Formats: sequence, C-alpha cells, structure tokens
Amino acid sequence: MTAVPRFIEARRSIRAFRPDAVDRAVLDCVVEAACLAPAPHHSRPWRWVVVDTQAKTALADGMGAQWRRDLGGDGVSPARIDELVDASHTKITGAPALVLGCLTWDGLDRYPDERRQRAEWGMALLSLGAAVENLMLAAADHGLASCWVAAPIFCPEEARDALELPEPWLPHAMVLVGVPDPDYAGRVRPPVPMEELRRYA
Ligand SMILES: Cc1cc2nc3c(=O)[nH]c(=O)nc-3n(C[C@H](O)[C@H](O)[C@H](O)COP(=O)(O)O)c2cc1C
Repeated sequence: MTAVPRFIEARRSIRAFRPDAVDRAVLDCVVEAACLAPAPHHSRPWRWVVVDTQAKTALADGMGAQWRRDLGGDGVSPARIDELVDASHTKITGAPALVLGCLTWDGLDRYPDERRQRAEWGMALLSLGAAVENLMLAAADHGLASCWVAAPIFCPEEARDALELPEPWLPHAMVLVGVPDPDYAGRVRPPVPMEELRRYA
C-alpha cells in the first residue's frame, strides 16, 4: 500500500523539553534546512533569529505586553489575562531554544497597488510556512522536539523591537526547540479524512 513517508508522519508538536541546551551546530543545521524551502521568484524573503539566551525573557515580555493590550481590548478579565500571559511567558522562556522566522521585503517584487502587494506578501508567508516545516522536519530528524507557536504573527514589531532586530526583519513564526521530555504525552493525531479534504477536478 502507498503510505505517507515515515519522516513526515514522525514529526509531531512536542511542547515539553528537557532542560539541556541544544547544540548550536544542530540549530544552524535546522535553519539551513529551512532555507532550502521553495520561495517566490528565487527570493529568500526570510531571516532567522535563534534565541537560546536570556533574550528569551525580553522576547516573552515584549510579545506579552502586546497580548495584554489585545486581551484588555477584547474585554477579558484582568485575572484571566494574567493567567494566559503568564502561561505563555513560561512556555517561551522554558524552551531551550527558540527559532524566529522573520519576513523581509528583500528580494520580493513591489507593486503600485495594494492587491498585488498583499499577494506578494502572501507568497512570502506561504514560503515561510514551507521553511518552518522543513525546520521542524530537520529537528525531528535530529531527535529534537519542536512546536510552532503563533504569537509573533500577532505582534511582529513588538517581537522585533524586543530583540533589537533590524527594522525590516518582521518575526512571523516562532518554533520552540529542545530535547524532548520523555514523559510528554503527545495529543492523539486524528486520522486524515481524505474524502472530505481532497477532491479531484
Ligand atoms: C501557524 C501555526 C501556529 C501554531 N501555533 C501554536 C501555538 O501557539 N501553540 C501550540 O501549542 N501549538 C501551535 N501550533 C501547533 C499545532 O497545534 C499543531 O501543529 C497541530 O495541533 C497538529 O499537531 P502536530 O503538529 O503534532 O501534527 C501551531 C501550528 C501552526 C501551523
């Protein structure tokens, strides 16, 4: 029977890590794997920031402050805001390494109209997604756990400024990386309902 390649099935989101530091040579390798992703018209519209130092706290603080403002604007109670933001802070600072995928306009086409400009940025985002998947597959291949965390896409400027990154680097994806905690029980992956999700035309 034709089966999904094992290395694709083997990658799972793992959200708990041993405290061990991750070898920077391995982190470089997974970032290099990310950079082999397809990208529009031979561009490489992404930049990567590996955070494996105390800078994790600055990043969590910067993104957390924006999330507090957003939740406050949504009318969420102060106690619930504290609970959510504190849990996120702990998750971010507790990961041995974070890899931030940033988008830049460098290498992308510019259009005079908003419609095509948005489509161009959308292509860059698609490419970033492909790159992040490469990164996580490579991490799994090295026996590392990883989990994509959505936070920076909601506050790219705050994430950038928290790490004092160059102005055009806009964080849009964050991946937690570390040695997996052997006690972590992953969520059950539901079967893929092919008949719902795919049709031929
Ligand atoms: C764009 C994106 C954002 C995500 N954000 C989060 C997140 O903020 N927190 C989290 O725990 N998992 C996050 N995930 C991981 C998904 O929950 C996970 O991929 C999904 O449940 C499928 O499980 P699997 O990766 O183990 O196959 C995100 C995944 C994607 C693609």
